[in-house]
Amino acid sequence: MNSESGATELAEPNLRAWLTTIGLDVEYVRGAGNTLFMRGDDGAEIPVIDYAGGYGALFFGHNHPVITARARELLDTGAPVLAQFSAHPQASRLVLELNRIIHRELGDTEPYYATFANSGAEAIEAAVKHAELDRVSRLSAVTGELEAATARARSAVLAGEAAVDPGVWQRLGVPRPAGDGDAVADLVAEIARRNAAQTARPPVFLALEGGFHGKLGTSVQLTHNEGYRAPFQALAAGARFVPRERPEVLKDILAEESGTLLGLAVTGGGVRLVERDHHTLCAFLVEPIQGEGGIRPLSEEFARQIQEFSAAAGCPIVVDEIQSGMGRVGRLLASSHLGLRADYYVLAKSLGGGLAKAAVMLVRGSRYRQEFELVHSSTFAKDGFSCPIALTVLELLEADGGRAYTLALERGAALAGMLESVRAAFPDVVKEIRGRGLMLGLEFHDQSGSADPLVRDAVASGTFGYLIAGHLLQAHRIRTFPTASAVSTLRFEPSVLLTDAEIDRLEEALTDVCAILRGRTGKRLAIP
Ligand code: F0G
Repeated sequence: MNSESGATELAEPNLRAWLTTIGLDVEYVRGAGNTLFMRGDDGAEIPVIDYAGGYGALFFGHNHPVITARARELLDTGAPVLAQFSAHPQASRLVLELNRIIHRELGDTEPYYATFANSGAEAIEAAVKHAELDRVSRLSAVTGELEAATARARSAVLAGEAAVDPGVWQRLGVPRPAGDGDAVADLVAEIARRNAAQTARPPVFLALEGGFHGKLGTSVQLTHNEGYRAPFQALAAGARFVPRERPEVLKDILAEESGTLLGLAVTGGGVRLVERDHHTLCAFLVEPIQGEGGIRPLSEEFARQIQEFSAAAGCPIVVDEIQSGMGRVGRLLASSHLGLRADYYVLAKSLGGGLAKAAVMLVRGSRYRQEFELVHSSTFAKDGFSCPIALTVLELLEADGGRAYTLALERGAALAGMLESVRAAFPDVVKEIRGRGLMLGLEFHDQSGSADPLVRDAVASGTFGYLIAGHLLQAHRIRTFPTASAVSTLRFEPSVLLTDAEIDRLEEALTDVCAILRGRTGKRLAIP
């Protein structure tokens, strides 16, 4: 449907061909609120209810009138979009406003400094780069201190003011020289060799199984799905994936990633060995509710354990709020519901109001490295179009005493209630409803034993959820998708404008899908 017949497709042609096989190859020509209009065969517009919501980037829906008015005003007044290396009052206001809301949600006053980016994955990369700059800077401060102390100890020995404790040679396995001269040269060389081996160890990131943090060079290594990650393993440092709700694993990882940095120090007339603990853990990445991994909320208990581990190990937490943040679960930060406090927050998706590509990475004041500003930038980030749009989005969120947050919870509860009633009617088909606010998922039971070969084949090829998505679009004019790394879960991330009538339409559609999957009606999925 909708393909320009005969035209050669060079823009991801294989994806396009696959979309055709499941009826998803439609062209949308207009969007308003929760509705996308697709072009019908006769050229007329066909309304489709959008539950995919730009994968969660449309908290205020398609083309929200206040946001589009702001965009028009910017264009009409000739607001400069690209004026790099100048004052950016809109960006400054945006970050102050983000701080004001974050302080309210965390009950704290520590500032968060911002670095801008153009996409979620790019902002994650910025957070990771900042964390690595911080890690290597701290490491070099420690090794610098140890080297200076070692040099002082060596001078003291050479000046005859101190003697090396016999245990030091033994501990390092260095033979004790017999003659005169620089008696500690071998010892110092061995310490330098061991420290170099420690500091050369690459950083290790912690991320949760099922997590998704983007698909760029570094961020894809923090994304659990092996299909996305494995081919690019050599491009960036790897992550260690922590099973969800298994805090005991963290202790083992810390032990495995720990090492010792060495130095010499003079106390009294003796030179002794100084040992400083060190580990390679650079940052711990967490989504408060895993999105792409199947709409899986983090428990408060596990969030607390992650926070405790991070504090004890000195490993900063990067909370990825790219999908869960910006009001979707009734707060700016979904993690603030959990009592989780991050060293880094990353926001994107809905920050741009569905019009601008905007992302921001926020670093807690006590961790912030101002030199990062000199080593990280992008031509398009912090631009004069996306920053005012993002400010308008924050104004909409905060208007009427934060009515949008309350509405997200209220509309989310209505949607979740309907999904639960579908589950109750089809407990043999629907396994679980998960999520919070307007970030909800419906997981189907395993359909690999289906009597319908179409369904069985889709399960076998890992495309089951897309088959259902094709049916929902073709038979019910409803748009949603499975979560890409957990294709038995459909995700529902509509805008806060969601109406009861739209919920009813989804209920009808899901009831139809469940009845078909149950296999007693003789009806089949509507696939071209
Ligand atoms: N982090 C999270 C939690 C995300 O959900 C996404 C994207 C990203 C990072 C990357 O952001 O696409 O702007 O570079 N999630 C999409 C999804 C792809 O399917 O949920 P991006």
